[in-house]
Amino acid sequence: MNVNTKIAEPLFDEVARVIARRTGLHFPPERRNDLERGLRQVACELEFDDLETCLRWLASASLSRQQIETLASHLTIGETYFFRETKALEIVERQILPGLMTGRRDDRRLRFWSAGCCTGEEAYTLAILFARAIPDLDRWSITLLATDINHHFLSKAEAGIYTEWSFRNTPGWIRNQYFTKRNDGRFEIIPQLKKMVTFAQLNLAEDVFPSQTNNTNEMDVIVCRNVFMYLSPGHVSTIGRQFHECLIDSGYLLVSPSDTSLELASHFDPVHRSGAILYQRRANSVEQGTFQRLTNGSAPSTLWVADCAPHLQAEGGSSNLHEVDTLPSTGADSVARVTPEVAYENAAVLAADMNCTTEADKKDQVPDGGPEMALLARDHANRGNLGEALVWCDRAIVRDKTNPASHYLRATILQEQGVLDEAARALERALYLDPNFVLAHFMSGTVARLRGKGKASNKHFENTKLLLSGCPQTEILPESGGITVKRLMEIIVQTTAREDLR
Ligand SMILES: C[S@@+](CC[C@H](N)C(=O)[O-])C[C@H]1O[C@@H](n2cnc3c(N)ncnc32)[C@H](O)[C@@H]1O
Repeated sequence: MNVNTKIAEPLFDEVARVIARRTGLHFPPERRNDLERGLRQVACELEFDDLETCLRWLASASLSRQQIETLASHLTIGETYFFRETKALEIVERQILPGLMTGRRDDRRLRFWSAGCCTGEEAYTLAILFARAIPDLDRWSITLLATDINHHFLSKAEAGIYTEWSFRNTPGWIRNQYFTKRNDGRFEIIPQLKKMVTFAQLNLAEDVFPSQTNNTNEMDVIVCRNVFMYLSPGHVSTIGRQFHECLIDSGYLLVSPSDTSLELASHFDPVHRSGAILYQRRANSVEQGTFQRLTNGSAPSTLWVADCAPHLQAEGGSSNLHEVDTLPSTGADSVARVTPEVAYENAAVLAADMNCTTEADKKDQVPDGGPEMALLARDHANRGNLGEALVWCDRAIVRDKTNPASHYLRATILQEQGVLDEAARALERALYLDPNFVLAHFMSGTVARLRGKGKASNKHFENTKLLLSGCPQTEILPESGGITVKRLMEIIVQTTAREDLR
């Protein structure tokens, strides 16, 4: 390839706009050299004879997901290491985790997301914090989702093997305790921590979230550090709003000091601690479209949920972290595991509460139709109030037993609660009422897998694929909030491949 071609500025600008639109990556004039270097690599990988032809094509073509991934793999920055920016980690270890653990004594469920996880150091750091903070780790259901746009980074993350350089800010005892030294001198994360993290590809600028389909809903904490600084302000704002929707009430978004922006502050309550920037979702904040979230992402959230790791001894030295100020409560107390039986009791209590209101209040506040009750159920589920969600969902079903969407919603709530047998029964009902309910087939596959029924699970996934194969690739699945036929197909392929590797 001719490397010396001088490229006209407007063509570069046009390609930069395409890149910003599809990946969120923002290349201001001072990063023009980085952009050019990355694009030359792209031109090589895509086997163009010269950069200009490649740029003309990039500017005009409608790029596929795979082509966008190729672009991103040459334009993203892979700078990361274990225990980076310890102030924020101190807060997670000393305050957020203990707060959540106290509030979650009953359902023992934690959901964290490392968004823009790069080669995995950040996600494994969180896994180490969990191992240190939670003495009975094997009794907890832990979701530690780690996503990135760059598939090369994700492959490295999944391998979990690192050189000394990744430990440049890590106390030696942590490396000794949670990694094994290989013959080639590199260090591999121990299996108990490796299996705690689920890596998945997700483009923050294009993919749909929150969604149960990619397990990005109902997060307690989202860690997205040193990512926003590379994105355009418009994307920061949009992604910030979406993160807000992904969090339960009072959940936290952690960013790095270089990521702070007015765009983020407008969606959250900023909580500043020396050297650490957290944004907290306001309790009971309802943004437009919230009610759609659960319906839209109507697929099982445990798609990528890793098994909780066995108990790991956290010996070998005390934390080098120090005390920080007290944070506002995570509101985790409000989230308790509620079985269907208890849910009916709760319903009675709620009904009693409602009776205390005036007739006028009742008219305003109390849903009296099945669809309204289902909306309220979804809203509670979106906030992580699974018990109340189930109460309202059951009421919606009492009103209209023949609505497959309500049975499906019930299954998603039960599955979140870990009541898998009940969830499977609810899905059977949904499919009895609508045998072509694609997402119910898909979720049946995931629930079967979680129940250890591999054969049944494969059958459900096959059925899902069969149904999808009759639809146009770009068609948005009904009630999926933007998940296309093609994307769900990719997710099934990824899930089954991942499971086959385990
Ligand atoms: C500098 S690294 C930060 C890694 C880690 N969070 C940390 O703080 O150490 C930035 C990461 O953001 C990812 N990234 C950039 N744009 C993205 C997008 N649109 N969607 C998902 N990830 C993206 C990059 O691939 C890269 O891995």
